[in-house]
Amino acid sequence: MKFFIDTANLNQIKEANDLGVLDGVTTNPSLMAKEGIKGDSNIKQHYIDICNIVKGDVSAEVIATDFEGMVKEGEELAALHEQIVVKVPCTKEGIKAIKFFSENGIRTNCTLVFTAGQALLAAKAGATYVSPFVGRLDDVSTDGVALIKQIVDIYNYYGYQTEVLAASIRHTMHIIQCLEAGADVATCPLEAILGLLKHPLTDIGLEKFLSDYKKVNG
Ligand code: G3P
Repeated sequence: MKFFIDTANLNQIKEANDLGVLDGVTTNPSLMAKEGIKGDSNIKQHYIDICNIVKGDVSAEVIATDFEGMVKEGEELAALHEQIVVKVPCTKEGIKAIKFFSENGIRTNCTLVFTAGQALLAAKAGATYVSPFVGRLDDVSTDGVALIKQIVDIYNYYGYQTEVLAASIRHTMHIIQCLEAGADVATCPLEAILGLLKHPLTDIGLEKFLSDYKKVNG
């Protein structure tokens, strides 16, 4: 399973990357805005900065909502760096753009996916990744992890190559549940990644090992 961090914050990306277990980064326009990154050239430079920190795929989302606009923006984003994956919303125009990109050697991440039907269209169009939003489904009393499992089963049954990228991960248990459901990738906030390390028995055990060592070695 691959581990991506879901942020545009360079310090958090560095911190996760320093752990040595990071496989990539996902961003979206909200995450870029949160970091105060604005203006076309600043946004593009920020994507390049992210690519220079992490060895792995970096999703950069288009803003255009029409096919021609998505294609123009996606081609510009893909040209920035070989690690860039063009993130495209799961709309009618978006699916057409994903098909165009897949036929032209540009990798894509189909985002804002909330149903198996949307995931089917993304795979048929040749998306590299599909991003079902686990947390946002949970927010509206719908089982987000169940959708991950459903998509994984469908893709496995029909042999689709599109990787299932569990997005909108909110906490550590989501990561474990998506892993159990067979997701290829989980994109997570730094806190959720670090949460995987936490266990009181680890802290208590380490404290005891160190105090026993000191008793004998001074
Ligand atoms: O990048 C998409 C996604 O991970 C958003 O997460 O927490 O805003 O639902 P969230």
